[in-house]
Amino acid sequence: MSGTGSRSWTVFLFGIIGSRGKPRRRYEGKSAMIRVGIFGLGTIGRRVCWAVEAGIPGIALAGGTGRDGAKAEAFLASLPSKPPFLPPEELIQASDLVLEAATQAALQDLAPKVLGAGKDLMVLSCGGLLGRSDWVELARRNRCRILVPSGAIAGLDGVKGARVGAITAVTMESRKPPCGWTGARYIEETRIDLEAIREETLIFEGTATEACRAFPANVNVVAALSLAGVGPERTRIKVFAVPGLARNTHRITLEGEFGRLQIQVENVPSENPRTGKLSYLSAIALLRDLGATVKVGT
Ligand SMILES: NC(=O)c1ccc[n+]([C@@H]2O[C@H](COP(=O)([O-])OP(=O)(O)OC[C@H]3O[C@@H](n4cnc5c(N)ncnc54)[C@H](O)[C@@H]3O)[C@@H](O)[C@H]2O)c1
Repeated sequence: MSGTGSRSWTVFLFGIIGSRGKPRRRYEGKSAMIRVGIFGLGTIGRRVCWAVEAGIPGIALAGGTGRDGAKAEAFLASLPSKPPFLPPEELIQASDLVLEAATQAALQDLAPKVLGAGKDLMVLSCGGLLGRSDWVELARRNRCRILVPSGAIAGLDGVKGARVGAITAVTMESRKPPCGWTGARYIEETRIDLEAIREETLIFEGTATEACRAFPANVNVVAALSLAGVGPERTRIKVFAVPGLARNTHRITLEGEFGRLQIQVENVPSENPRTGKLSYLSAIALLRDLGATVKVGT
């Protein structure tokens, strides 16, 4: 994968964790409201809007944008504070932080604009971040940050701690019912007949980089895991289709000098069957942390 050699990888993580010597974003540790612009008003974007409107200390909505303008405008008008519908450039100008909840494809266009304007970017389609050490460099130059919520998995605190020492292996297994993989690039290319699957079947195995290309809307979780840990080339994933499975399940196993860590998450799907509820809850939790006086957890 491009740009993810060990040096650029260190650069990437360093960009996420913090930078030396330069002042942090203006709102950190200060009382000013953080104005959040929502890019993509689907399942996650709407939930985040509702949560901010319900009240998150220190956080306010700057506005939102969506591909279907009329629908997005009607949604924003239904919120108590009636945040404006804004085209992307205006949304960026009006925001301190832009929360992307659209697609990996949309992120490719959005990220350079947000970071180029010196605004923070929270990314849900985080598979699109793999290989983009150029964005990390842009964020560093403009003194802004790229934030990645844990999304549909848990345990990234432990993974980050483990990474300070030596990690020897990180593997992940993702299980969804066959329909949970419908429409993915890999399924289309290999013409796997998901409807013909009658028992648990391994349909894909590879690195996080390969998985994010193969399943751009389904395995952002492995991207987040790889960003927190040892990078996308050393993080491996197996993808299973399991007929009758009610909850999308992710199992992570991490080995290192600290010992062994195993995490299993069984996600209740939201109205979007590909998106578990924990995905938006975790984005809301990260916003809460930004505005909070006390921050708990790594
Ligand atoms: N990190 C994670 O763990 C995790 C978990 C679940 C979903 N996701 C990802 O988060 C993203 C959002 O998920 P969702 O469930 O809300 O999806 P969704 O399909 O419900 O909503 C996405 C919205 O973005 C809009 N959109 C798409 N392209 C756009 C563009 N160019 N400009 C403006 N709006 C655009 C769509 O119209 C839609 O309303 C997806 O990429 C998904 O794969 C990540």
